[in-house]
Formats: sequence, structure tokens, C-alpha cells
Amino acid sequence: MRNQIICGDTLEEMKKLPDESVDLIFADPPYWMRVEGVLKRVNGNDYDGCDDAWDNQFTSLEDYEKFTFAWLTECKRLLKKDGSLWVIGGMQCIYLIGYALQKLGFWFINDVVWSKRNPTPNFKGTRLNNAHETLIWAVKNKTARFHFNYKTAKELNTDTVSFSDFSDGVRKQLGSVWRLSVCQGEERLKDDSGNKLHSAQKPEELLYRIIAINSQIGDLVFDPFGGSMTTAAVAKRLGRDYLCIEMNPVYCKYGQARVAAVQPENTKIARADFDQKPPRVTFNEMIEAGYFREGEPLYYHHTPYLYLTAEGKGIKADGSVTDIHSAIGKIKKNDGTRLNGWDFWEVVRNDSFVPIKEIRAKYIKDKKIV
Ligand SMILES: C[S@@+](CC[C@H](N)C(=O)[O-])C[C@H]1O[C@@H](n2cnc3c(N)ncnc32)[C@H](O)[C@@H]1O
Repeated sequence: MRNQIICGDTLEEMKKLPDESVDLIFADPPYWMRVEGVLKRVNGNDYDGCDDAWDNQFTSLEDYEKFTFAWLTECKRLLKKDGSLWVIGGMQCIYLIGYALQKLGFWFINDVVWSKRNPTPNFKGTRLNNAHETLIWAVKNKTARFHFNYKTAKELNTDTVSFSDFSDGVRKQLGSVWRLSVCQGEERLKDDSGNKLHSAQKPEELLYRIIAINSQIGDLVFDPFGGSMTTAAVAKRLGRDYLCIEMNPVYCKYGQARVAAVQPENTKIARADFDQKPPRVTFNEMIEAGYFREGEPLYYHHTPYLYLTAEGKGIKADGSVTDIHSAIGKIKKNDGTRLNGWDFWEVVRNDSFVPIKEIRAKYIKDKKIV
């Protein structure tokens, strides 16, 4: 069963799904926030937070614990042996969920702090502003060979790389603190009366990161608590299949329409091109085969900086020898950062500048190297 929104109780509906059938699970369960009374903004207006019946359906901690163990047990059954599970929660629930995951034998890969750029203020000023949520990334056991698009994750890292460095081609490992805004503006679903549809709609950017780095095109992404169907919408956008369960028919209806409107994107991120390693070939063999010439200049922004050696290194004007990655790092950053030289250098062919990456691709294709 694929690309469907199932409207029903998750514990009952999950039981109908086959063992080891999903590649990635994202779960955003009721947090059981135990909100009481009406929260007031500083100006005296009511704050429209999460006091929904679905979040307050539990009678005790034991009741919530039983529910948590029940849905996580089903998730473990549904997950393929090398699949990944992500659960998001706030302080009210994430510790119990973490405990349950470990009791059920899951193996933790990371916990991620979603640091909110625009958190709800603590209106009364009586405690710290609660500005983050926690996600746990876990797999079925220690030996699971889970999918991880490492380089794609680097492309999505705008947390620790400045905008100008990113534009300059600097990439850094994606860390476990993600600075993202809460869902707002156009993205926020409204009902027919123009009111906020769902109090806990997650930002698409959050799901985009998880699905892009942790799955491949065609994989099945499962969400046992679909809500406004953020998971399904982003899965479809990234060319993955989806399956979501949600008990509230109103959310299901609006979620169906949301997902139907999504056009899959065919981007490098969706395809994880950055993680498709080209076959390893050396400059030497390409020089020998006539694709590059010993001594020919390598250009950056149409300026020759290096001259190719027979060993595939670059000689600078001062006669020192360097490699193409350090050399471009020096030109662009001059702080010891190495950049991927294949992304920057060009040579001249038939009076035009051609990226060396294209010549390498042609060599690989011509020689049928796999
Ligand atoms: C935190 S919200 C999920 C929000 C979602 N991630 C989004 O971006 O819109 C949890 C959802 O779980 C649903 N839910 C709670 N208990 C459920 C159950 N037993 N079966 C199915 N859905 C349930 C609620 O109706 C609610 O929409």
C-alpha cells in the first residue's frame, strides 16, 4: 500500500500493514502537553496553542507510556531492517519516548535539536522561553545499514555556514542543531473559515532535511500521526512514496488536498546527486588518454592560476606545486579551507571555457568506466 492517507486509529491501522514494509518513519505523536486553562498573550488576547483533544487524550503517565510502547512496537515491526525512524517531541514526552525506544531495542544514531528561529514567547516571563524540540533518529538495531546521504546533508547545512561562504562553495558537515523557523505564512494550512487548521503543523523544511538525507527516490515514507500531512507533502515533493495515518477526518480531508497539489521536484537534492560518487579516475590517465594536456592552464573565473603537471597536480606561477582543491581554497578563502576543485576549475577547448568536471564526465562516459 503506497501513496495513501488512511483515516483511522493508528494502533488499529498499523496492525493491518505488512512487516518490514517501510523505509523511513517520521512520527510526530501527541506530546501530551497537559495544557490547562487559557494561555494569555501579553496584550491579554488568548493564545491559540496546542490544547487539542488529541493531545489531551491520556489519563495518566502510565496511560501515555502504554500508548507510546504500543505505537513504537508497531513501528519496529513495519520498519525494514535497514530503515530509519525519526520521532519528534518536546520536554513533556521525548524522555519517555527515548526510554521506550531503548527498551524496544532501537539503536540511536543522533538526537537533533530543532532550535526555533521564532519560538512562541513565554508570555508571563515565569520561566525560560521554550525554544526547541528534540528529534531522535534511531534504527532497529546496532547492525542496521541505514541510508545516509552525507553530502546532500552538507548541501542543506545553512546552520553553520554563512550565506556568503555557502555561495562561495563552502560546505560543512550537517550538525545536530538545526536552526529552522516554525511553520508560518503561506505554508500554514487554513480551514474554510480561514482559521489555523492544525496547531502542530511542522515546517516543511524540517521534513525536507530528514527525507532528503535519510531516504532515496521511490522509498516508502510512513507517518503514523499524519496531522496536516506535512510528511506526505514533502515525501511526494522529493519523489518518495508516502503512507500516513490520521484519526481526524478533517485533517485527512485538508491533507489530501495539500498532497494532491504537490508537484515532485527533480533536483540534485531529491536525487542525492552529491552522494552519487563518480567512478574514481586520475588526472594521469586522462592526460595519457588525451583529455587533458600536461602543462595546460587551469582557469578560475577565466584567469589561469595553475598549470597541469603529468602527475595531475598544479604548478603555480611561483613554481610551487599544489593540488586543485587546496589551490581553489586558497584563492577563495585563504584560511586553509579546501574546496572541491572539480567544482571550480576550467580549461579552454575550442576557444571556450569548459569545466574540468565536464571533461572528466566525458572521459568516464567515453571509456564506459563504472
Ligand atoms: C503532533 S500532531 C502531527 C502533526 C503533523 N506532523 C503535521 O505536520 O501536521 C499529531 C496528530 O496525531 C493525531 N493522532 C493522535 N492520536 C492518534 C491515533 N491514536 N491515531 C491516529 N491519529 C492520531 C492527531 O489527530 C494529530 O493530528
